[in-house]
Amino acid sequence: MKKIMINEFGNESKMILNEVDTPSPKDNEVLVQHKAIGINFIDIYQRTGLYPLNLPSSLGLEASGVVEAIGGDVKSFNVGDRVCYCNGPLGAYGTHNLVPENLLVHLPDEIEFETIASGLLKGVTAYFLLHDIYQVGSKDTILFHAAAGGVGSIATAWAKALGAKVIGTVGSSEKEKYAIANGCDYVINYRTHNFKDEVMKITNNEGVSVVYESIGKETIVDSMDSLKRRGLLCSFGNASGVPDPINILDLMRKGSLYLTRPTLFDYVKTREQLENASNKFFDILKSGKVKVDVQQKFDLADIGKAHASVSERKTIGTTIIIP
Ligand SMILES: NC(=O)c1ccc[n+]([C@@H]2O[C@H](COP(=O)([O-])OP(=O)(O)OC[C@H]3O[C@@H](n4cnc5c(N)ncnc54)[C@H](OP(=O)(O)O)[C@@H]3O)[C@@H](O)[C@H]2O)c1
Repeated sequence: MKKIMINEFGNESKMILNEVDTPSPKDNEVLVQHKAIGINFIDIYQRTGLYPLNLPSSLGLEASGVVEAIGGDVKSFNVGDRVCYCNGPLGAYGTHNLVPENLLVHLPDEIEFETIASGLLKGVTAYFLLHDIYQVGSKDTILFHAAAGGVGSIATAWAKALGAKVIGTVGSSEKEKYAIANGCDYVINYRTHNFKDEVMKITNNEGVSVVYESIGKETIVDSMDSLKRRGLLCSFGNASGVPDPINILDLMRKGSLYLTRPTLFDYVKTREQLENASNKFFDILKSGKVKVDVQQKFDLADIGKAHASVSERKTIGTTIIIP
């Protein structure tokens, strides 16, 4: 089988494509032959060492495919089943991966391998952000950064489906058109406009209920200042770098704000949570209200180019690797 490995943290060139023996599943393990592999921003944090891994390490947390072999105690999966996974184990960047049964999900027939390979992690994230972190509904105006990106395009459409008024930010005029077509009520190009000022104009100086903040260092202060009294700052990513520390007294001074810094792995910790979030995502996809828009496809051998286009802000929608 083929597998991407890193021996040290660093730029795209550290990802090496290796030929290795295909492993056999042990008890509770399933060998999945990949049809498509998802690229997520966390893969970049892991490759660069911002989120450290034990080295040498494989990479990639999300893929879809077909069950090729099962270990002794596996109860819920059979050879030939269509499956997907999104919270590891590491090693999705390859032709195959051994996945513990409790992390694997059956893929409904109506949903394509490529759709889910680049959508499950982002869709499950959108689910917990809009339902568990805060219950978004028709009472809310929310601000969602990187609205034309992977998580952003899925979550903003989902928030619209929940009845919220959605303000998105984007980094180019092409992305602006995309985010409007995808359902955002207002889109701000935060490279050309001060998004906090625009949010205040849109909300008559009230501010928004929640800011979904995945940009980090460059935006976090203005994100706090875009909130209404007792609003929630949900810092869930750091695409521009880790934010500077927040003075806890600022939460009081800026209107008794709330702050959370969640990770998917705490919100789909149990089998029940994973199944619930995945099923909710499958349902909203089947309803047609939310789509996974695979706009970029790369071969496994071009993994470096795939990472570069995501980290250089060139991508729209989602990105997949074909093994
Ligand atoms: N906490 C969690 O559990 C969790 C789970 C999934 C994802 N996330 C986070 O959600 C965010 C989106 O993830 P994704 O995989 O869907 O990626 P993505 O949104 O497709 O790509 C990231 C986007 O961030 C924007 N961005 C702004 N400043 C940037 C900079 N300096 N460098 C790179 N990008 C920049 C770019 O959009 P513009 O050009 O429009 O600005 C870029 O397209 C990431 O921050 C990720 O870490 C968190």
